[in-house]
Amino acid sequence: MVQLLPDDRLFVLTGAGVSAESGLATFRGSGGLWNGHRLDQVATPEAWAADPLLVWRFYSMRRRDAAAAAPNAGHLALVRLEEQMGSRFYLCTQNVDDLHERAGSHRVHHMHGSLFQSRCVRCEEPFYDDGGYELVDDLPLCAICGAAVRPHIVWFGEVPLDMERIYAELDRATVLLVAGTSGSVYPAAGFVQVAHQRGIRTIYAGPEEPLNADVFDEVLLGTATEILPTIDVRGA
Ligand code: OAD
Repeated sequence: MVQLLPDDRLFVLTGAGVSAESGLATFRGSGGLWNGHRLDQVATPEAWAADPLLVWRFYSMRRRDAAAAAPNAGHLALVRLEEQMGSRFYLCTQNVDDLHERAGSHRVHHMHGSLFQSRCVRCEEPFYDDGGYELVDDLPLCAICGAAVRPHIVWFGEVPLDMERIYAELDRATVLLVAGTSGSVYPAAGFVQVAHQRGIRTIYAGPEEPLNADVFDEVLLGTATEILPTIDVRGA
């Protein structure tokens, strides 16, 4: 049981582990492979330049999987915390699925982009897209300028979205709660160091220690659906 104080300001960082109990595969859990391809063969600008169809087939499959999944008790526990804390709650997720929103979270920022958005490589404006693109002739083109349309996902080597806002939120938080992430992908894996330097309380929740476990004040071992519902705001 973890208790937050009534005037705490909570920054939550989630990773693939929070969606694992909804049936969505984590990245490193499957050995980092999809259909025999390493992640860096499908989630990089180089992969996109070399084989856009392969990249679109990967994200089309992930769209199908995410659409078929439902939020779990971990997602719902974060909704309850947001209801209790209001604007003192901020959720930054590395996940590109929409399970936090479908659970009912509102203050969510997808630092690695969103599975159900695409953008034209030239116009760059993201738009809602739940299409599945499996054949060369299916590959989407921009309705305005005719250029290629890519997933609105932050690939390896690209800069996560709205880092300025993320660091501003981290700067005023009093508690950092990190759940279901291996601590292997930066800059997200570095948030705990930033929080630690500020002297704020840092908590990790997941079934195994992340790579950066030694920087956390508290490491709670268990799955997202076991641990997150036990977090409460005192007096709420
Ligand atoms: P990983 O696959 O690296 O790590 C998943 C984490 O979830 C591990 O630490 C597991 O222990 C934990 N986990 C597994 N089952 C869990 C459960 N039921 N409850 C809670 N935790 C559980 O995924 P991420 O850390 O999210 O980036 O990966 C970070 C980034 O690397 C991703 O956003 C993606 C990836 O490549 C991009 O696509 C840019």
